[in-house]
Amino acid sequence: MASPDEVVEKVKARLAPSEEEERRLRNATNEMISRLERVIRSRGLEAEVRVGGSFAHGTWLPGDVDVDVFIVLDTGADLERDGLSAALEAARDLRTEVRYAEHPYARALLDGVWIEIVPCYNVKRGEWISAADRSPYHTEYLKKRLDDDLRMETRVTKAFMKAQGVYGAEIRVRGFSGYLAEILTLAYGSFVDLVRAAVGWGMGEVVYVEKPGLDVKSIHRNAPLIVPDPVDERRNLAAALSMEKLGRFILACDRFLSEPSEDHFLGFTGGRARDVGLLNDKLLALVFAKPSKPDEVLWGEIWRTAKGLAKQLNIAGFNVVKFSAGVDDRTASIVFLLDNVKCCSLRLRRGPFVFMRDARRSFVKARLKDSLLVWVGEDGRLYSMTVSEPLEARSVLTDLVKSPVEKAGAARGLERSIRETGRVLVGEEVRDEGLGSLSSALRALLEGDA
Ligand code: CTP
Ligand code: MG
Repeated sequence: MASPDEVVEKVKARLAPSEEEERRLRNATNEMISRLERVIRSRGLEAEVRVGGSFAHGTWLPGDVDVDVFIVLDTGADLERDGLSAALEAARDLRTEVRYAEHPYARALLDGVWIEIVPCYNVKRGEWISAADRSPYHTEYLKKRLDDDLRMETRVTKAFMKAQGVYGAEIRVRGFSGYLAEILTLAYGSFVDLVRAAVGWGMGEVVYVEKPGLDVKSIHRNAPLIVPDPVDERRNLAAALSMEKLGRFILACDRFLSEPSEDHFLGFTGGRARDVGLLNDKLLALVFAKPSKPDEVLWGEIWRTAKGLAKQLNIAGFNVVKFSAGVDDRTASIVFLLDNVKCCSLRLRRGPFVFMRDARRSFVKARLKDSLLVWVGEDGRLYSMTVSEPLEARSVLTDLVKSPVEKAGAARGLERSIRETGRVLVGEEVRDEGLGSLSSALRALLEGDA
C-alpha cells in the first residue's frame, strides 16, 4: 500500500498548472487590470485595482479557476454606483454576469478566462465596511506566509475537499471556503499533517495561524470548528461550515489514512458496493418551478423549506431519515428518504382520566363502538385504538403544498412557485422522472456515505 506522502506526490503532479495555462490567466488578468485602470482614470475615481483570491495566492486548481480582481475604492465611493459600474464599463464588449453576494459584483469572460470583479473599500485593518474589504489583507498575509511548497500543499487540500463534496462556502454547500483551506493547510504545514490532525479534532476545535488574543471559544459558542482569521481574529473562517460537511471531511480523512490512494481525489469512489435500489420505494419528492433569483437567496429558501416540510412529515408520523435538494435550469427538487411512505395504520386516541366519571363513561361508550381496544394507561388516562387505512406520504405532502408557509414554515419566496407548480412524486416515480434537479437531489442524498 502506498503511504499518504507517496499518494500526495502523485496528486501534486496532476495539480501543478502548466506554464501555458498560467500565461493565459496572467495575460487575461493583466488585460482586465489595464481596462479597469483606464475606466477609473477616465472617471476620476479614487481607486486601486488588486488581484486577490487563489490566483494571487498561487493556490488555484488547473482547469478550474476564476480570477478574483478587486476594485479597492475610497471610503467615500459607492460600491455599486462607482465600483460595479466601472467593472461593467471595462467589460462592455465581453460576456458579463452580475452576481449577488453581500454586495453585487461582476463576472466577465476574457479570452476564455472568467474574471470576478469585486468592488470593496480601502480601509484600515479592523475598520471593515463591506465583507470583501478583508480580501486585500488576506492576499497580503498569504503572500508573506506561503512558499511554493505550501502553495502545492494547499492545492492538494482543495482538490481533496472538492472531490469529497465539501469545498465551497456558498449556502448550497456550506463547506470549506478557499481561504479556509489555505489557512488550514498553513496552520498544519502540509495536507497530510492537516488530515492527521483533523481525525483527532473535537467539537469546537480551535485552529489558528496567529494566536488569538481573546477567548474565541466564548465568541463562537456553537461553532463545530473555529479558525480565527489572521487579519481579523474575531471572525471565524469556518462560520459557514455545516456540521455535516465538517463531519464528512473528517470521515474522508479517516478513509484516506486507512487506505491512502489517489481515488480519494477523484470524487466519491465508495469502498462498498451499495445497492441503493433498496431505497427506491422509500423516496418522496417535491418538484417545483425554480423562481429566478440569486443563488444564495434561492438556496437559503430551499433549505428552510426542506427543513419545514421534513418536520411536518415527522409530526404526521413519518420517519424522515434524510433529505436533500437539487436544482437545474428550470426546476428545483426536494427529496426525502422515509422509513416508509405509508405509516400510522394504528391510530391512538387519548381520553379523560379514569376518575372523571361522566367523561369516562361517555368516552368508553363512544369508543367501544369504533375501536379495537379501549384501556387505561399507566398515566391513569383512557386510551382507545383504531386500525385504519395507513396515511400516505403523498397525500400528506400534497396537502402541505397547498399552503406551505402557513403549514410548514416554508420560505415565503418559494410559496407561489410551490403552490402553483408543485408536484409530489413517490417511490419509483422519483427515479423515473428524469429531471436534472431530481437527479442532483438524489445524488446529494446518497453522497457523503462513509
Ligand atoms: N473570501 C472570504 N470568505 C469567503 C469567500 C471569499 O474571505 N467565504 C475572500 C477571501 O479573501 C478570498 C477571496 O474572497 O481570498 C476570493 O474568494 P473565492 O474566489 O471564493 O476563493 P478562492 O480562495 O479564490 O478559491 P477558488 O480557487 O475556489 O476561487
Ligand atoms: Mg477565487
